[in-house]
Amino acid sequence: DPVQAPDFTKCGDAHDVATGALLDAKCCPPLPDKIIDYEIPKFQLFRLRPAAHRASKEQVAKYEKAIQAMRDLDTSDPQDPRGFMQQANIHCAYCNGAHDQVGFNNLDLQVHNSWLFFPFHRWYLYFYERILGKLINDPTFALPFWNWDNPKGMTLPPIFDNPNSSLYDAKRDPKNTGSAIVDLTFSGSTDNLQLVANNLTSIYSEMVRSVSTTTDFVGKPYCAGSNPSPGGGSSENGSHTGIHWWVGTKDTTGPNKFNEDMGNFYSAGRDPVFYCHHSNVDRMWTIWREVVQNNIPKDITSSNYLNAEFLFYDENKRLVRVKAGDCFDQRKLGYDYDRIDLPWLNYRP
Ligand code: C2O
Repeated sequence: DPVQAPDFTKCGDAHDVATGALLDAKCCPPLPDKIIDYEIPKFQLFRLRPAAHRASKEQVAKYEKAIQAMRDLDTSDPQDPRGFMQQANIHCAYCNGAHDQVGFNNLDLQVHNSWLFFPFHRWYLYFYERILGKLINDPTFALPFWNWDNPKGMTLPPIFDNPNSSLYDAKRDPKNTGSAIVDLTFSGSTDNLQLVANNLTSIYSEMVRSVSTTTDFVGKPYCAGSNPSPGGGSSENGSHTGIHWWVGTKDTTGPNKFNEDMGNFYSAGRDPVFYCHHSNVDRMWTIWREVVQNNIPKDITSSNYLNAEFLFYDENKRLVRVKAGDCFDQRKLGYDYDRIDLPWLNYRP
């Protein structure tokens, strides 16, 4: 059977996935009075997500204003599910064992390291983007993507690197800001040309060369009663994890323990760059489905996958139930990605 939506009334403590240690983090969502089966709006304005390094001044200004409005909700109404910490806590609740699997109280619900990874994060960003748009009254607001698969995007996007911006987060590795080149393969190299070449090679590998079945890319089956973390797809395990680790602090002895913010599930959503990173992770899924030519079925058709469910608060604070199988076509969800070069696509060194 498919994994069911969590029962918010049973939400409990969060713990570190690696050690099981209790976390100093309360991440349970507000309780609703009812749950609505979500219907994708039939008529809506289209949202075109731009690359962060190419976003216009106007787009950046809107983005900063919207994130600031979210942060303001944390103080004006901490129980508003659209607030910044409430949104960050969604990640903690679905990833650090605050939710158990419905019907299996001894099993944590875990949306990583399995085939739930892409659909969960797509729906998460979908509502996050709509909330941001709602808070600034702009139904076309589109979440930028951190284009780390292109050499032009292989630094922390400068819009996140300004301490006076709502997009800033202090809990990052200070070495990996400014002009530092991302290191998706943990190579430790300090040669920028080598880093760029490594990154392109590893993206080609996780998108093309090392993928021979659908689950190689999407992740392994995870159903009702499955143990958590059966195995992630190539993109989740590769560039996705590489960026998380690269951005998060490495100093675990000081107050920033556990590689906050980006380096751990419970805190990752507290860094605004998380959503911009995941916008690109989501884009890599669209590119794999639509651009990469191979003879592999692009979508898993098992009902255990299609009918897996999640709950999110929408932009109108309604708690809605969505299914994994209803999110494969991003255009039906009302958004798409600006098309830009894919220099890794023919990168066979
Ligand atoms: Cu839910 Cu990038 O992790």
